[in-house]
Amino acid sequence: MQESLERAIRWIEQNHPRTIAALTGAGISAESGVPTFRDAGGLWENYRAEELATPEAFARDPKLVWRWYEWRRGIIRDAIPNDGHLALASLEELLAERGGAFTLITQNVDGLHRRAGSRNVIELHGNIFRVRCTREGTREERAETFEALPPACSCGALLRPDVVWFGEMLPPGAIEDSAAAVAGADLLLVVGTSGVVHPAAGLVSMLRRGAAIEVNPQETPITRLAQLSVHAPAAVALPRLAAAIERSLG
Ligand code: OAD
Repeated sequence: MQESLERAIRWIEQNHPRTIAALTGAGISAESGVPTFRDAGGLWENYRAEELATPEAFARDPKLVWRWYEWRRGIIRDAIPNDGHLALASLEELLAERGGAFTLITQNVDGLHRRAGSRNVIELHGNIFRVRCTREGTREERAETFEALPPACSCGALLRPDVVWFGEMLPPGAIEDSAAAVAGADLLLVVGTSGVVHPAAGLVSMLRRGAAIEVNPQETPITRLAQLSVHAPAAVALPRLAAAIERSLG
C-alpha cells in the first residue's frame, strides 16, 4: 500500500492537478462505521436489495422498507465524518482559494460529505435524511426518528426516503453535471466504490484529458481503467493525497 500511495503522490507532484473531481462510494464512510453494500458483511450480504430498495418493495410493504431505512438512519445519525471526508472538504476549500476547481460526486446517501464541510456535492443517489411525498413529490429534510412507521405527509399520503432505488432515474441533471465535471478534470479520485452500479460507475470513462487515481483496499472493475490505484483505506490515503495536491500547487 505504501508503494502504491507513493506512486500516486509522485504523479501529483509531477502533474500539478488543479481541476479535480472525486467520485465516492460507501467505502469512504466505512471508517465512520457506516456499513457498505458489497463487502463481506455488507448490506447486500444480509438483505435482499429487491425486497428493500425498489419501488415495488415499497408499494408491497412500506413499513418493512421504512424499518430498514430507520435502522440505517440511526447508524448514520450517530456516525461522524472521518479523515477521508475531511480531506475532500479541505481540498475543495484549497482549490477555491488557489483558482482551481473541485467537484464532489457521491453515490452515498449518508450526507457525511456535507457534514465534513464539503459544499459542492452532487448526490447521485439522493439523501437518506430527506423525504418525499409519494403523492405531491414535495421534498423535505427530516432527520428525526419517526415515531410511527411508515411516516405520512400532511396531505395524508405516504412519505418515502428521497433516495434512488433500483430501477429509478437519477435526479435530473445529476449525471450530466457529473459527466461535465469529470470531462474537464485533470484528476479524478475514485474512492471506496465497487464500480458496478451504473450510471455512476460509467463516469470514469468520461475522463478526457485527466487521469484517475483509485483509492480502494480491493481491486474493482475500475482498477484497470484507472492510471493509478492506491490500495489503502480512504481515511489513510486521502489526507496524504490532499497534502500532496496542496504542495504541488506551490
Ligand atoms: P459497495 O459496497 O458496492 O462498495 C464499497 C467499496 O468500498 C468496495 O469496493 C470496498 O473494497 C471499498 N472499501 C471498503 N472499505 C474501504 C475504505 N476504508 N476505504 C476505501 N474503500 C473501501 O458500495 P458502492 O460502490 O458505493 O445504490 O455501491 C454503489 C451503490 O450500490 C450504492 O450507492 C447503493 C448500492 O446498491 C443504491 O442504493 C441505489
